Amino acid sequence: MNHLIDILDLSVEEISELIAVANDIMANPEKYQEKCRYKKLATLFFEPSTRTRLSFEAAMMELGGNVLGFSDAASSSSSKGESVSDTVSVVSGYADIIAMRHPKEGAPLVAAMKSEVPIINAGDGGHNHPTQTLADLLTIYREKGDLNNLTIGFCGDLKFGRTVHSLIAAMSRYKNIKFVLISPNELKLPSYVKNDHIKEKNIPYVQTESLDDVIGDLDILYMTRVQKERFFNEEDYLRLKDSYILTPEKLKNAKSDLSILHPLPRVNEISTLVDEDPRACYFRQTKNGKYMRMALILKLLEVM
Ligand code: NCD
Repeated sequence: MNHLIDILDLSVEEISELIAVANDIMANPEKYQEKCRYKKLATLFFEPSTRTRLSFEAAMMELGGNVLGFSDAASSSSSKGESVSDTVSVVSGYADIIAMRHPKEGAPLVAAMKSEVPIINAGDGGHNHPTQTLADLLTIYREKGDLNNLTIGFCGDLKFGRTVHSLIAAMSRYKNIKFVLISPNELKLPSYVKNDHIKEKNIPYVQTESLDDVIGDLDILYMTRVQKERFFNEEDYLRLKDSYILTPEKLKNAKSDLSILHPLPRVNEISTLVDEDPRACYFRQTKNGKYMRMALILKLLEVM
């Protein structure tokens, strides 16, 4: 059974194939509009989402398939105490493929052990978010024409930001990559991510609290939201939430071909004044997410 739980479940070659398919879907959408006829995607979202869930649903609809599911744990039987593995055993009898988001790290892996159909991790707690990474990779590829030879800055909540963890894992496999890790001391990248994907592979990296000091070095700036829902106390959140705010002023020292990414939702960390800057890629990035999810659904369902 094919599942996508961790971005490293896909080889670099498979990621290149997904990028090629996504680009082809963008160029020739009509070729794909019946590919998943009579297939059903279930979206099981135990945690809030706008882009991820709707882009999965739009992806399946644009492939001619159908969607079912829930967007709130309170409206599912988990509110009655049903376990994830029971929910998945049931739903895998109703759907051909399942995209699941859960606040508990590892829940999609548990689901994959039980499921008779492919499971896609659509975000598990502060752990991983591989389909956001697919969106990020297509965006970087389309903006830069390459996934090698890049200095990538990650800014904000590197501790709880699951999109950061997955993108670092993915980028660590390309050539001549440098990471710049920008966060307050309390929100530094977890040591397991740093050890497994940066130190282990001898990738050069810089760790700093100052965005201003490094902004001029970056080819990619990946901004993130401080993950309010993962804090244990509100005081810490309030103290850290506005640690970084990207403004046109700050961008004066950045490269003219910088690409600014953000998985969204944005709270305060990018001024809306930046949206008009041609270097702002985050709304293109959301569209790219839909095409990569279409390519992924085709791959996991083995539709040619
Ligand atoms: C991200 C997530 O859910 O981790 N959002 C998304 O899927 N686009 C980032 C976030 O919530 O900050």
